[in-house]
Formats: sequence, C-alpha cells, structure tokens
Amino acid sequence: MIPFSPPRIDQKTIYSVTEALKSGWISTGPKTKLFEENLATYLETDHVVCLNSATAGMQLILNFLGVKAGDEVIVPAYTYCATANVVIHRGATPVLVDVNKDDFNINAEAVKKAITKNTKAIIAVDIAGFPADYDSLKAIVNDEEIKSLFQPSNDVQEKIGRIMIVADAAHSIGAKYNKQFTGHQADMTSYSFHAVKNLTTAEGGAVCFNVADLFDHATLKQQFKVSSLHGQTKDAFSKVQIGAWRYDIIEAGFKCNMTDLQAAIGLVELERYPDTLSRRKSIFDQYTKGFNDQDWAITPTYQNYNATSSYHLYMLRIKGINEIQRDEIINEIGRHQVAVNVHYIPIPMLTYYKNLGYSIDQFPNTYHNFEREITLPVFYNLTDEQVETVISTVINAVNKVIG
Ligand SMILES: Cc1ncc(COP(=O)(O)O)c(C=O)c1O
Repeated sequence: MIPFSPPRIDQKTIYSVTEALKSGWISTGPKTKLFEENLATYLETDHVVCLNSATAGMQLILNFLGVKAGDEVIVPAYTYCATANVVIHRGATPVLVDVNKDDFNINAEAVKKAITKNTKAIIAVDIAGFPADYDSLKAIVNDEEIKSLFQPSNDVQEKIGRIMIVADAAHSIGAKYNKQFTGHQADMTSYSFHAVKNLTTAEGGAVCFNVADLFDHATLKQQFKVSSLHGQTKDAFSKVQIGAWRYDIIEAGFKCNMTDLQAAIGLVELERYPDTLSRRKSIFDQYTKGFNDQDWAITPTYQNYNATSSYHLYMLRIKGINEIQRDEIINEIGRHQVAVNVHYIPIPMLTYYKNLGYSIDQFPNTYHNFEREITLPVFYNLTDEQVETVISTVINAVNKVIG
C-alpha cells in the first residue's frame, strides 16, 4: 500500500527524542526554548511561542483579542473544524463565507459582504499550504468605511482599531507571500505541527506576531506563555531553579504548552525543512506533469505571481463529477493499494454546524470544490516510482468510473 502521509521518523529523530528522555527534563524546558528560537530564525521573525497545537494557538489569539459572546469572527466554510470551533469556544459566532473558485482559500469579496459592526476578526486559512489573499484582506480591514463600523470593546481592540486578521497557517509553514514567509502578513499566525503536517512534533503548534507597531513582541510572547500555562507566571523549568519556587496565577489561563519531547522532534524536522520542502515541490511538479494532458484534471495552484505554497496537500479536482462518482473513484484507487484522502468535508455539511443552522447551499464554490476533490499522497520518502504509480492508478480509476 502506498500510504498517504507517514511522518519522517529516522535515527536522527529517535536520537534526539532519546536524548531529551535521558536528560531528565521531558516537559517544557531548554529544547522547547531552542526550538522557539530556531523557528523564529527560520521564519525571519523575532518571537515564536510553541504550543501543543495550532488550535491552541488560535484559542490564545482570540483570548488575547478578548473575543466574546455577541462577537462575530469570519471563517471560510472550507476548512477543518478547528478554525470554527475556536470561535465557538469563545461564545462568539463563526460567520462562514465561501472560498474562491480557482483555489480553496477564503474569498475576499465574500469576506467584505459578511462584515458587520460585530466583526472582531477574520481567520484566513492557507489551505493546502497556499497562502490566502492577504493583500485584499488587509485592504478590506483598513478601508475607512469598514474601520468606522468597528466597535472595540476592550483595550486591545481599541489599540488595534480595526478587524484583526488571524492566519490559520496550520498547513503553510515555509510558504511565501510577497517574498516573505507566512507569519508576516496576518496580525497573528498559528502553525500546526500535527503528525500529518509538513513539519511535525507529533502534536504541536506555534504562534508568531506581526503587530510590532502596536505591541512589544517580547511582552506578547511572555503573555502568551503565561496564558498557555494556566496563567502561571513561571513555567516548571524556571521554578526548579534555586529559590525560584514561588509563583502567581494572574489569569484563568489554558494548558497547552509544548513539551521538550515534542521540541526534540521539531528541532530535527526544522533543521532539514528546506530539504523537505524541495522534495515536496518535486512531488507536486511530478503530479502536475502527470495529469496535465488529462482533460478532466484540475491540478492545484501552488505558485502564482506573489505566492508560493509549502506543498502541503496535493488537492486534485476532477471536472464534471459529483460526490458519488468521487467516492467511487476513491474506492477504486484504494482497491489498487493507494491511500488518498478528501480535504475537507465543508463545515456546513457536518452535523454539529448543520444543527446550528448553517447550510451548504449558501457556499456554492465550497461545495463544488469539495464534490470533485481528491488529495494525493505527499511525503518525503515517497519515491518517483511511487508517484508514477499514484498517477496511473488515479487515471485508471477516473477512466473506469466516468468512462
Ligand atoms: C486548516 C486547519 N486548521 C487547524 C488545524 C488544527 O491543527 P492542530 O491539530 O495542530 O490543532 C488543522 C489540522 O489538521 C487544519 O488542517
């Protein structure tokens, strides 16, 4: 079976985790600190806060912004549930909007139409690793008319003075927009290091900031660290230093810190990440070349005039098919020992959100993209021969199902 996306675990990873295990310090400590510093260097930013997931990162960002009941946060209908759930956990309302026809990212025009006096943030998702249209989103939130609608309800919102842009960059570490890494466009960005992501720590995530004109990033980092550990002023590592046992709790914080075992994996992953990205790019190129002469194939955009993907998900679309045919094609591919996937079942098609009153009928691009989509395997150790096998298996399956 050609698997979908196994993590790259080798002797280097095993050695690094073993070293952390033997060090006697397995929770948040020196390796997490080093991983944060190395991530900041890689991302060409000043401060990074490591956490146990991208979800936690978005929770901390919305917590910082003070989003609460009655507030609205604009979220694409085409995303993983985490993007909407973090809004619901604040007691606020996720306002779903449609995505683009040509790629899978949030549609800027739809965002503009969805803004009300209650809108506090937009969460843009860089689906598949391809950056969202941040230039348009920034133009919208800075538009004087839209700014005048904005009603701040706390000091942070007052200081920002407009709708905040948050990046759900779960897929897009290493992707570029206007020649800069993701992390430099939105006000705050949350990355994922979940097991299937390009760069993994088993479970994990990180936040970086892009609001230096308004806030001191070093202070923000400290504030997010405290929020990630129950509101405790010192982490366990600082507390074991002689005489430093006393701590305080300054808020009812969360519990979502990264451990040194996770960071030990991340340090190895990050060191070889440029190599990972270049292998993933060549797999994307091989797929695109392989499907280019199939008139039913819509290959994904992973590069345009101002954006370059992190090559996270190869989201192929098949022209003219419906959901039933897509599922038959997937089954046929599976029978030939190739694991594929679908990203994502749109939010308004899932029971919980349907029960809240969301309906897929209002998001035609989202549905149309979803019903035709199949995600192909991409991982570092996937060989060129295996990529050829995937291509021929997909072509045969499509021909069999739609003739
Ligand atoms: C688009 C998107 N956002 C958020 C997440 C959540 O990431 P994590 O599992 O690190 O919380 C995921 C995870 O798959 C995702 O795909």
